[in-house]
Amino acid sequence: MLKQIRSWLNVTFGIPIVGFLRTWILNVIIGNVPWAMIRNFYYRKVCRISIGKNTEIWSGVRFAGGAMDKISIGDYCTIPHYTFFVAGDSIVIGNNVVFGHGVELYTSDHDPDDPYFSRRDAPITIHDNVWIGSSAIILKGVTIGEGAVVAAGSVVTRDVEAFNIVGGNPAKLIRERGTRTFK
Ligand SMILES: CC(C)(COP(=O)(O)OP(=O)(O)OC[C@H]1O[C@@H](n2cnc3c(N)ncnc32)[C@H](O)[C@@H]1OP(=O)(O)O)[C@@H](O)C(=O)NCCC(=O)NCCS
Repeated sequence: MLKQIRSWLNVTFGIPIVGFLRTWILNVIIGNVPWAMIRNFYYRKVCRISIGKNTEIWSGVRFAGGAMDKISIGDYCTIPHYTFFVAGDSIVIGNNVVFGHGVELYTSDHDPDDPYFSRRDAPITIHDNVWIGSSAIILKGVTIGEGAVVAAGSVVTRDVEAFNIVGGNPAKLIRERGTRTFK
């Protein structure tokens, strides 16, 4: 019976039920558990996400994509509510990285020139000491250099040089940071 339901869902809606359930449990239940220890255990042991020491992943963070085991978050990072990781490829975050609320990272999109909208995946890399403002969107293939700042609400489509502040849609250079020192 279960096999038939599974096959019907797959054929009718294209939903791979195991993956769907895994994502549902992760985002609807685990992600909202008010104990970080439980959330982190599930992220590390079930999703195989690498999380460094003293890194906080707040409740309400969501994950999607088949490459969750390629998500790596360094030490002393803050990933607050409503961050959304779409991991069709790797997402590598260095140390001392701070996100504002509601940052979204998309490693995947679809080729608009392909009649079948074939999927395209590329990694996202965020180096040490970066601050990403609230509601920024980081698109596939982007590398954000050390100590850079992404202004709130930006859409980052291209690499960001180290210690630059970028903002807008698409994100452009605002200015260079006034410091290169971190404590
Ligand atoms: C980028 C930011 C840090 C301000 O940096 P700043 O250098 O002090 O910026 P200023 O206010 O002097 O503005 C400099 C220029 O950047 C522009 N700018 C500022 N914020 C911007 C944004 N979010 N998007 C696009 N452009 C922005 C300003 O309009 C200004 O442009 P102008 O020179 O053409 O007038 C701030 O605007 C920001 O985005 N903060 C993030 C807030 C947030 O997410 N908080 C959550 C806490 S973790």
